[in-house]
Amino acid sequence: MSGPKGAPARRGEAAGGVAATWAASADVVVVGSGVAGLTAALDAVEAGLRVVVVTKDAPDAGCTRWAQGGVAVVVGDVPADTVAAHVADTVAAGAGLCDPAAVESIIGAGPAAVRALQARGAVFDRRPDGGLARAREGGHSAFRVVHAGGDATGAEIERALVASANGLPMLAGHVALDALLDDAGRVVGLVVLDDRGVPGVLHAPAVLLASGGYGHLYASTTNPETATGDGIALALRAGATVADVEFVQFHPTVLWTPGANGRRPLVTEAVRGEGAPLLDRAGRRFMTEVHPLAELAPRDVVAAAITRRLAETGADCVWLDATGIEDFTTRFPTVSAACRAAGVDPVREPIPVAPAAHYACGGVVTDVAGRTAVPGLYAAGEIARTGLHGANRLASNSLLEGLVLGGRAARAVAADLAGPRGVAGAGAVRTPAIGIADRARVQRAMSASAAIGRDAAGLAAASDSVEAATLLRAPTDRSGVEDAALTLLAQAVLVAAGTRTETRGCHVRTDFPERDDRWQRASLVLGLDPAGAPVVRTELATRGAA
Ligand code: SIN
Repeated sequence: MSGPKGAPARRGEAAGGVAATWAASADVVVVGSGVAGLTAALDAVEAGLRVVVVTKDAPDAGCTRWAQGGVAVVVGDVPADTVAAHVADTVAAGAGLCDPAAVESIIGAGPAAVRALQARGAVFDRRPDGGLARAREGGHSAFRVVHAGGDATGAEIERALVASANGLPMLAGHVALDALLDDAGRVVGLVVLDDRGVPGVLHAPAVLLASGGYGHLYASTTNPETATGDGIALALRAGATVADVEFVQFHPTVLWTPGANGRRPLVTEAVRGEGAPLLDRAGRRFMTEVHPLAELAPRDVVAAAITRRLAETGADCVWLDATGIEDFTTRFPTVSAACRAAGVDPVREPIPVAPAAHYACGGVVTDVAGRTAVPGLYAAGEIARTGLHGANRLASNSLLEGLVLGGRAARAVAADLAGPRGVAGAGAVRTPAIGIADRARVQRAMSASAAIGRDAAGLAAASDSVEAATLLRAPTDRSGVEDAALTLLAQAVLVAAGTRTETRGCHVRTDFPERDDRWQRASLVLGLDPAGAPVVRTELATRGAA
C-alpha cells in the first residue's frame, strides 16, 4: 500500500488503537468530492497548499451529481430580482432560525462563486437571447435558479469540478474513520480505511470535511448510498458541536413506486415552478387551501401538506400533473427518464410522488468561513451548519452554499496555517470502539417516528429501538463506519427532536403542532457526553431572525 499520488508515503506507522499500514502527509486533507469538497480542494491548491482528497467511493458518487433544480443566485441580469430579495426569501423559508448575518454573507458571495465555477468549465442553460435561463422553485419570489442540462445541474457541476481536479492527489474508495488530535485538541491528521478495511494515516494540520448529509438515516431518500453522516459523526467525536440536526428536510415530490426504498428519483421543484399542480387521489388540487403560494410554498409546507393529505385519504402517494408543460422531455430529461423507467409517461399522465428524506439543514457548527470549534477542523457544504438554512433550507441554496463555503474554507485553512499548528505526529486514535446498530433497524425506527410528524412517545420508542440494537465495537470497514455514523446521527436527531417541543420548519411535532415563540431564534447545539452519547449543550441564539 502506498500513500496517495503526489504525497510521500511511509510504511509501518501505528496510530493509537489502529495499526496503520501506511502514512502520508499534506497541508490539508479534504474529505468528500462533491461541490464543496472539490471547490475547496481546487482553491486550496490555488492558495499554494499540498492537498489530498479522501472520498469513500468514486469521485462523482456523492449527492452533488444528483441535484436537479440548480443554483439559486442573483447575478444581476434580471432587473426585477435582487440579492436582498434572495436573502429575504431564504430567511422566510428558514422559519425564524436563520442567522441573517450568515445569510447575507453567503448569498452575497453567490454571484462570484458561480462565475468561478463557470471559469472551471461548468456550462449553464441559456435563453434564446443568450442570457442565463432561470427556473423558479418553492419559496422563491422570482425566477432565479440557474440550471444545466435542463434538470441535470448537479451532474454538470460535478463533471466540471472532477475534470478540473484531474491530477489532484485523491484517495478514492477510502473512508474517513477518525481525526487525529494532539494533546491540546488540535487536528494533526486523519485515519482512513481503504476499501479492504486497511487503515492508513494522513498527517496534516488541517482536515476539511465536505462529506455531505445523512439521508440514509431514513428508509426512503433522494440521496445516494454515500449519505450516511460519517463526517458529522467524526466531527462530534473530535469535539465539535452540531446544531439544528432535528431539521431534516423531506423533499415533497419524489417519484413513488410501490414498496421501493433506498435512493429514490427526485422530481425537481422546478416542475412545480413551471406550473404543475399537485392532486390528491380524488384528483383535487389541495395546495391552494394550504398556502398563498400553493405548490410553490416553501418545501417544508408542501411536504407536510402532502403528508397530511396522505393520512386523510389513506393513499400512498399524491400526483404531480406535468401534462400541461410544453417540451417536458427536453426541459426535464432526468425526470422524464426516471418516470419512464418506472412505467410512467409524464407527458400523458400525472406522476405519482411522495415525500422522502432529502437534506440535512443542520450539521457541524461553523462560522461563515467553515471553521469549527476544533482548531484545524473545517466543514463546508451540507455537513456544515452555517446559519444559512435555519429550520428549512430554501430550494437550490445548497449548491450555492457548497460553492461559497468550499472556497472560503480553503482560504481559511491557508490563512490559519500561518498561525499555531498542532504538534505533528502526536495524535492518537481515541475511539477504537463505538456504538453501532443495525442500519435497517435504525432506518425503520427513524422512518416510523422521526420523519414528518413526530411525537414524544414515538421519539422515545425510536430511541429505545436504536439503543437496544446498539453494540460497542470498532468499525473495520466502510459499512461499519457508516453504520456507526448513522447510529450516532439517529441518537442526535432523536435528542434534538425530543427537546424541541414545537413545530417549526422541517420539524413537525404532532403533539406540539404550533410554532412556539420561546423557541424563536434558538438553535439546539449538541455535543457528546463522556460516554459518547449526544447531549444538548446549549441553545445558540441566532441574531435577529424574523
Ligand atoms: C429540486 O430540484 O427540487 C431540488 C433542489 C434542492 O434540493 O435545492
